[in-house]
Amino acid sequence: MILKFKLKAGEKQIALSTEIEKDLPLVHADIGLIERVLENLIENAIQNTPRDGAIRLVLTPQKEDITIQISDTGSGIPAEELDHIFDRFYQLDKSRKADQGHSGLGLAITKKILELHDRSINVVSALGSGTTFSFQLPVISSV
Ligand SMILES: Nc1ncnc2c1ncn2[C@@H]1O[C@H](COP(=O)(O)OP(=O)(O)OP(=O)(O)O)[C@@H](O)[C@H]1O
Ligand SMILES: [Mg+2]
Repeated sequence: MILKFKLKAGEKQIALSTEIEKDLPLVHADIGLIERVLENLIENAIQNTPRDGAIRLVLTPQKEDITIQISDTGSGIPAEELDHIFDRFYQLDKSRKADQGHSGLGLAITKKILELHDRSINVVSALGSGTTFSFQLPVISSV
């Protein structure tokens, strides 16, 4: 799945790297839905990161959870917009609607999928320097 995005990122000369420990514990989650979450977040990162930027996917195990982080060195999101980006059809760039079938649904779906897993999604962003989305999934031994 990451390979597909490496190609897309490569076209924009964005470095897509992963930091995934060996022997991570299994998590309790719907793999199809979580793949959708990762796709949405990586696609957004590619879309909102200029040439020569970098995107990083990091998986960190804790005792009972694995934390999944997707960071980019992109445009960032203004603090006052952070409350809205998970709303359906919300896009910072109002002119984007017509472009390539993007409708502002990705993050609304992402949030919904994580709610189905009893989890929330967190976002930290600095305008002009980048954004990090993160969420957690429970390791199997703890459920
Ligand atoms: N990593 C990011 N960096 C900067 N802005 C972002 C990032 N991710 C999302 N956004 C902003 O949040 C908006 C909403 O994202 P969302 O994924 O819901 O919609 P979309 O990507 O525009 O369309 P769709 O996901 O339906 O193709 C985006 O239009 C963009 O303005
Ligand atoms: Mg999107």
